[in-house]
Amino acid sequence: MRKPILAGNWKMYKTPADTQAFFEAFKPLVADATHCDIVICPPFPNLPAAIEAAKGTNIAIGAQNLYWGREGAVTGEVSGHMLQAIGCTSVIVAHSERRQYFGEIEADVVRKTQAALEYGLMPMVCVGERLDEREGNRTEEVLAAQFDGGLAPLTPEQFAQIVIAYEPVWAIGTGKTATPQIAADAHRFIRVKAAKKFGDDLASKVRILYGGSVKPDNVKNLMAEEEIDGALVGGASLDPKSFAAIVKY
Ligand code: 13P
Repeated sequence: MRKPILAGNWKMYKTPADTQAFFEAFKPLVADATHCDIVICPPFPNLPAAIEAAKGTNIAIGAQNLYWGREGAVTGEVSGHMLQAIGCTSVIVAHSERRQYFGEIEADVVRKTQAALEYGLMPMVCVGERLDEREGNRTEEVLAAQFDGGLAPLTPEQFAQIVIAYEPVWAIGTGKTATPQIAADAHRFIRVKAAKKFGDDLASKVRILYGGSVKPDNVKNLMAEEEIDGALVGGASLDPKSFAAIVKY
């Protein structure tokens, strides 16, 4: 019912030449994958090379961040308008590394998500608790606050167009994947929040991805959970063979 999304977040890795080499190897490996949407999110300078390489394929290209205005005196920022103009079709919003290192807060989530939609980009909005929050039994409190602050202010029409990524911070880049059970519980909690705010129909349609140390050898068990609608993959998306294996879980 919900089409899976397998998305790669390259973070601050690869040059345009590396990007070209990745796509040359990756494209034939996933050419017959119709069961899911495939998205790759390279760093800004690699977007043109990725978009060029992905033309005519089943691979969509997304950015890792955006600014909410269209243009202006905002040194160092990139707008949704610019991303749309070069052929991006999606964007990651409020990744935990943006929250942690660049102070992004829920108000940014709302502005960035709305800006993405205004420019035709599918926002993949990240939520997730830190290790101290999980150990303090505060996971649901944190997810609730992130939902209430960042997603509840959207209109139902806006909410219908977003993707949510549950990325527990303690599982990112640590090799500690959440068990399928832990991830599914969090997804269910988010979906119940969504149902209360936006109704059962929209809540049952929103795709919730899991992110955090997803690898070829654990993706199958994660994807076996009905609540898990795909993955947002960091490290294991950098290698064409490994990401292709994840796409073909
Ligand atoms: P890793 O897959 O490297 O743990 O990163 C997950 C992530 O942050 C994806 O956005």
